[in-house]
Amino acid sequence: MPRILILCTGNSARSQMAEGLLKSYDPRLEVLSAGTEPAAQVNPNAVRVMEEIGIDIRDARPKSVELFLGEAFHYVITVCGNAEASCPVFRGAVRRRLHFPFDDPAAASGSDEQVIEAFRRVRDQIGVRFRDFYLAHVRASTPRLRPARQTDIEAARRLLADCALGAEGLESQFPDGFAVVDSGGELVGVAGVEIYGEDGLLRSVAVAPEHRGTGQGALLVRDRLEWAVRHRLRAVYLLTTTAAEFFTRMAFWPVERDDVPEGVRASEEYSRACPASATVMSLPL
Ligand SMILES: CC(C)(COP(=O)(O)OP(=O)(O)OC[C@H]1O[C@@H](n2cnc3c(N)ncnc32)[C@H](O)[C@@H]1OP(=O)(O)O)[C@@H](O)C(=O)NCCC(=O)NCCS
Repeated sequence: MPRILILCTGNSARSQMAEGLLKSYDPRLEVLSAGTEPAAQVNPNAVRVMEEIGIDIRDARPKSVELFLGEAFHYVITVCGNAEASCPVFRGAVRRRLHFPFDDPAAASGSDEQVIEAFRRVRDQIGVRFRDFYLAHVRASTPRLRPARQTDIEAARRLLADCALGAEGLESQFPDGFAVVDSGGELVGVAGVEIYGEDGLLRSVAVAPEHRGTGQGALLVRDRLEWAVRHRLRAVYLLTTTAAEFFTRMAFWPVERDDVPEGVRASEEYSRACPASATVMSLPL
């Protein structure tokens, strides 16, 4: 999940509303906001207009951008108006900088109702702009698991090669029983269960190095086991030279090669791809 920092001057209205709105699209997002000259408190009008749309920012506090200079962000987004001289420049590590200008509603003058209207208008402008940002940048690149398609096979082969895994016989049952993780159109994870009689062979479990350690491997394995249960398989077997500990966490158990059913043993993956030193594991379903 990307880390996002939203900046304005006081961190009391625009950046706080943007933070609340962005989090409302996906609570798993790590969104922070800060200002170059943090105000004493969040503007009560910002709290009020956010409450009107069901987003509670009462506990938010203005923070100094200095707090985050040592941290890395995927996106830093400035939300001050184009005319403001003090629009902050973030000096920390950033993959992408974006500037979405909004007028400062706190600068609005007139009756209380006119001022509140100015806050509502800016809130809604921020909502539209950040929703577009979320759809185009965040959701599109969030890894998603889906059934494999025939057209995924070459990308799956490349991923397996990158992960130092063989792709022998991959085409024999692909895409049936295979799932992939898609990240913005790029294939970053794969796993498949091949069927041999009443048993399954879990093979080609791989996650691109830059996506490891984020739960994609476990997700793929769980998803393939559910698939195997739906197909009423008796047990699932696998061979691994590098990840026995990972599969132990997924409830697989080492078995003797003699205990592996004939059909699984005759498969191309089992007989050709895996060296004799590989650990054979199984999970009864
Ligand atoms: C094995 C692999 C698929 C794991 O994918 P991943 O997305 O990094 O795994 P997850 O993030 O879902 O990890 C789940 C848990 O297993 C642990 N884990 C991951 N890889 C591990 C490994 N190789 N050995 C031991 N534990 C491992 C993680 O630390 C995590 O533990 P946690 O829940 O306590 O944090 C990935 O490392 C990979 O592609 N390796 C190269 C190819 C390979 O060896 N495939 C298996 C042979 S078929």
